[in-house]
Amino acid sequence: MSVKIDVRNLSKIFGRKPKKVLDMLKKGMSKDDILKRTGHTVGVSNVSFEVNEGEVFVIMGLSGSGKSTLIRCLNLLNKPTTGEIYVDGDNIIEYDKKQLKQFRQKKVAMVFQHFGLFNHRNVISNVEYGLEVKGIPKEERYQVARDALASVGLEGWEEKMTYELSGGMQQRVGLARALANNPDILLMDEPFSALDPLIRRDMQIELLELQSKLRKTVVFITHDVNEAFKLGDRVAVMKDGKIVQIGTPEEILSNPSNEYIEDFVRDIDRSRVLKASHIMFKPTALLSIKDGPKVAVKEMETNGISSVFVVDGERRLKPRFPGSVTMNS
Ligand SMILES: Nc1ncnc2c1ncn2[C@@H]1O[C@H](COP(=O)(O)OP(=O)(O)OP(=O)(O)O)[C@@H](O)[C@H]1O
Ligand SMILES: [Mg+2]
Repeated sequence: MSVKIDVRNLSKIFGRKPKKVLDMLKKGMSKDDILKRTGHTVGVSNVSFEVNEGEVFVIMGLSGSGKSTLIRCLNLLNKPTTGEIYVDGDNIIEYDKKQLKQFRQKKVAMVFQHFGLFNHRNVISNVEYGLEVKGIPKEERYQVARDALASVGLEGWEEKMTYELSGGMQQRVGLARALANNPDILLMDEPFSALDPLIRRDMQIELLELQSKLRKTVVFITHDVNEAFKLGDRVAVMKDGKIVQIGTPEEILSNPSNEYIEDFVRDIDRSRVLKASHIMFKPTALLSIKDGPKVAVKEMETNGISSVFVVDGERRLKPRFPGSVTMNS
């Protein structure tokens, strides 16, 4: 697994003289105290993490915890106050204007919470927008945009105006627009938060299906713990600008690093996160394929069970009929 994005000691402070506040941050002064003392707001506070190529990395946290500030640093919509961001080994903070333009056109694309579509353009020309800016010829960009729309299930909607579409469909257009640029990295800032629960669930499933084909590197923000654990290969939890825990959903659920995270995961639907392997145990009784019905009944009676697995000479489960014998069979 190779590292796609490597963020080191990144901080973003909002205010007139952000660099002056860095020392206070280093000394451990809290976000609240810094605001009171200096009028500066700590958006992101000394975070470090890596995102692997092809993974869905979710950033979760309450409102104001710094999620948007952090993700906007990853395409330099926010200029970090200090720290380094390596993408494919390049520190993007050191990019000049031309390099940054190329980076934004080729490597990253962003999907926003409120879709961010142009109302005066129809669906297809919204999706074509990035390609148009890049100077791709009309025919070619039309074809790419059509394919991107088809990949999010919007074939046939090309000529509609965006306001004629439902919220879920508008967000699909936003996703198609991002995909049309064929970026390595998708930055998604609460893309499904404005959608109602059923549409939201559909979009989550669609994103997972798309991702299984496309294998982009995705940074996905949400404040919904169920969404985070459903989508994320790994999840980072933020509080007051800091990352308080990073891990797989299983790791966070089985070993929350503090009370804040325990509170967060209290309402999670564990059945969606825990794998079958977590509840598996070794069977107490087994039948060999050579055993007859009497042996089967005895084995079940002895063990107080009503069905038993059947294995072959190499102790492999026999998948046919139906791999187990029950009292009735
Ligand atoms: N442009 C800005 N100027 C000043 N302060 C800002 C700016 N953007 C964000 N902040 C501050 O930075 C902190 C983090 O905000 P951010 O928008 O990153 O939070 P968030 O986790 O995305 O919250 P939400 O879930 O509400 O979107 C907040 O205290 C906010 O007030
Ligand atoms: Mg936000």
